[in-house]
Amino acid sequence: MKKTMLCLLVVSSVLSAKSDAEPKLSTQEAQQKLKASMMLLDDKLKQKIAKLSPATKKTLIQIYRHHDRHSEQATLRQVMHEVGQEYETMASAIFMDNGEMAADAARRLANHRIPRGGLIAYLKLDQINDELLSSLDSMNTAVEGNAIKFAQAAEKGDMATAASLLSPIANGCISCHAVFRGKPGTNAHIK
Ligand code: HEC
Repeated sequence: MKKTMLCLLVVSSVLSAKSDAEPKLSTQEAQQKLKASMMLLDDKLKQKIAKLSPATKKTLIQIYRHHDRHSEQATLRQVMHEVGQEYETMASAIFMDNGEMAADAARRLANHRIPRGGLIAYLKLDQINDELLSSLDSMNTAVEGNAIKFAQAAEKGDMATAASLLSPIANGCISCHAVFRGKPGTNAHIK
């Protein structure tokens, strides 16, 4: 009896580890999502995105495959605030030794909403180029790949490993902000 229980536990944890890392959408489904968000953009933005290389487009599709929550309303700023809250929930759950709460927040972070119009639509037009976007994959993996690892560690009750992943996740956030955002709320009229 005990052996069967253990076996079931091992199988289910392997299964959840596997399904965590697997994409949530097929390539075709992700392409459809990307097309649907492109419909919401004006011609200037559409043309910019159309000019991206096949490799950059492939990266975008790959990112979309890991997200099945596409919002009709939320802007990127709203999504970012939601993501920030998930991060804080992850940290406080660790301090509470609450693995389930930590893992749920981390999985929501990894599968954060894609904003209305798509991720790229919120960048400045001159940021939409292959050179800058080539860093997207590694920054995304730092955040979302480590959030999945965090969820798996927290679920096992391994809070030390989970805690050690908070910093690599934050580094992913910061790297992307350094490339695509800068300091929020600055104003060209203030010297
Ligand atoms: C793929 C790039 C990228 C990653 C990764 C990323 N961000 Fe952002 N973030 C942005 C961009 C771009 C903006 C500016 C959006 C805008 O002003 O429309 C932003 C803005 C923000 C803001 C400011 C919102 C505001 O009201 O101005 C917060 C807070 C934020 N991000 C939190 C996070 C956190 C926390 C993480 C990591 C868990 C993260 N971001 C990861 C690109 C990223």
